[in-house]
Amino acid sequence: MAAKTVCVTGAGGFVASWLVKLLLSKGYNVHGTVREPAGSKKYEHLQKLEGASENLTLFKADLLNYESILSAIAGCTAVFHVASPVPSTIVPNPQASLIIYFFNVEVIEPAVQGTTNVLQACLETKVQRVVYVSSVSAISIRPNMPKDKVIDESYWSDKDYCKKTQYTVLFWLSCKNVKFQSSRMVMNWYCYSKTEAEEQALDFGKRTGLDVSTTVNASSLVLPKLLKGGDSFENKTRWIVDVRDVVDAILLVYEKPEAERRYICTAHTIKTRDLVEKLRSIYPSYKYPSNFTEVDDYLRFSSDKLERLGWKYRSLEETLIDSVESYREAGLLQFE
Ligand SMILES: NC(=O)c1ccc[n+]([C@@H]2O[C@H](COP(=O)([O-])OP(=O)(O)OC[C@H]3O[C@@H](n4cnc5c(N)ncnc54)[C@H](OP(=O)(O)O)[C@@H]3O)[C@@H](O)[C@H]2O)c1
Repeated sequence: MAAKTVCVTGAGGFVASWLVKLLLSKGYNVHGTVREPAGSKKYEHLQKLEGASENLTLFKADLLNYESILSAIAGCTAVFHVASPVPSTIVPNPQASLIIYFFNVEVIEPAVQGTTNVLQACLETKVQRVVYVSSVSAISIRPNMPKDKVIDESYWSDKDYCKKTQYTVLFWLSCKNVKFQSSRMVMNWYCYSKTEAEEQALDFGKRTGLDVSTTVNASSLVLPKLLKGGDSFENKTRWIVDVRDVVDAILLVYEKPEAERRYICTAHTIKTRDLVEKLRSIYPSYKYPSNFTEVDDYLRFSSDKLERLGWKYRSLEETLIDSVESYREAGLLQFE
């Protein structure tokens, strides 16, 4: 039987690179979308993957350029829509109007209009199934989340509340060659963009008959920050999942015919201070945060629906050890 051809949007990103690796290892032909020319150094890690020279083709495409997305998706039986702006909390320009411009143009439009473009191209080219990669931020940002209930796929973030909740963005101001750091509170644009895009993706499927499912992922991105120390950290609840388990979930949702709609993908619920103690017990010599401020944010997400589909996840210890190894290999973390 001929290998299936599938498309991964934003192939060079963190989650998508792991997904491309998994798909190649399973014998899929992969079309990956990237924003820079395919030969760029930025995508060397993809070209080095086993099977990439025969089975991976990169297409230069921007989510806001329909024709470029259409060319990448043509001939594919499935699309994994992973690409989305994931803004850092450092924004280069301090003026309020430019901040709004930055988030509208750079975050919300590519996430929301970009998702519609991908789905429209899937419909046009008769793709059989789409898996949209969402985030727990599309579930958890709403007032009065019930602390005594398990949070399942029926929950959605409140988009108005996303606009009201704020977090601090750091700005670098340059004046006469001297750099100052300043900060400003801005709305929770990322959670707004993920909530709106996921809602629209599922709605698009319902309206048009395109088979669209979503995975609603937790993360492990806090780990490098904790390993680099810092004075003070909020003792927040963390929902940790190994990126390899995330991409297993994304593929499972594609491969299982019975999969439908949303799947929360999270493995370990742990307070930040306990996570630091776990890391310290394995790697005693890194600098860890020394002070914690208490926050009352305990929530329990359920991945039961995904587990019923056959998903399994790694132990927290395995995730921590392999994550540290991969940060070291990538040069993101010094050896102890
Ligand atoms: N990492 C996590 O822990 C986590 C947790 C939950 C959900 N997610 C979701 O997983 C997805 C990937 O996240 P990530 O952490 O892997 O982020 P990432 O490394 O920043 O990757 C994001 C990708 O999106 C692409 N992209 C952004 N804007 C684009 C545009 N206008 N047109 C085309 N491509 C565009 C980027 O392309 P370039 O390489 O060209 O910049 C990049 O490849 C996102 O949808 C995110 O919401 C991630």
